Amino acid sequence: MEAMRTLSLSLRPVRLEDAPLLHGLFSRSPGYFALIGMEPPSLEDVVQDLHTLERDPRRRAFLLFLEREAVGYLDYKLHYPEEGEATLSLLLIREDRQGQGIGQKALRHLMEHLAGVERLYAVVYGQNPRAKDFFRKEGFRHARDGGPAVSWYVRQLGAGPA
Ligand code: ACO
Repeated sequence: MEAMRTLSLSLRPVRLEDAPLLHGLFSRSPGYFALIGMEPPSLEDVVQDLHTLERDPRRRAFLLFLEREAVGYLDYKLHYPEEGEATLSLLLIREDRQGQGIGQKALRHLMEHLAGVERLYAVVYGQNPRAKDFFRKEGFRHARDGGPAVSWYVRQLGAGPA
């Protein structure tokens, strides 16, 4: 079998008709939702979220593909909290594909392509030490807690000082 690292990862904007695909991805990643004290969203919830997303021109959502297989999702908001900043609200790798370097590759790809964004925030919900470790390893530092169950991480992008 071909080694994982030789497969190419691509990102494509999520469309409304991707709802079943995204729902399938979430259903196959129950661990994350358990961690934040939720059931994986229903198909109806996903459709609703995609409608909400469409109405907000600053929100961007992508499906991550490994060759033809949907293996992850990411969702961020541009010019938020401030102009020149962006906030990643979710990077999710399908549960059976976690720990294989895909999350790291996707995040690095995103950071390289956020033209004009000086600072990227990552909002970590719940007790999620793995996500915190992951973002720290990628050069993020803890910025603040927004209540007991929300932590904000941040890193500079581009050539700017850390
Ligand atoms: N525990 C601790 N560290 C781990 C684990 C683990 N189980 N798995 C991987 N890592 C480390 C790896 O060792 C690697 O570091 P290294 O390069 O020094 O070896 C680094 O994390 C990157 O590993 P990847 O294989 O790229 O991680 P993965 O593809 O699993 O993506 C992610 C990480 C996004 C956290 C994924 O596990 C996931 O989707 N988890 C569930 C959803 C989630 O919690 N997302 C983050 C929410 S917060 C937010 O999105 C802003």
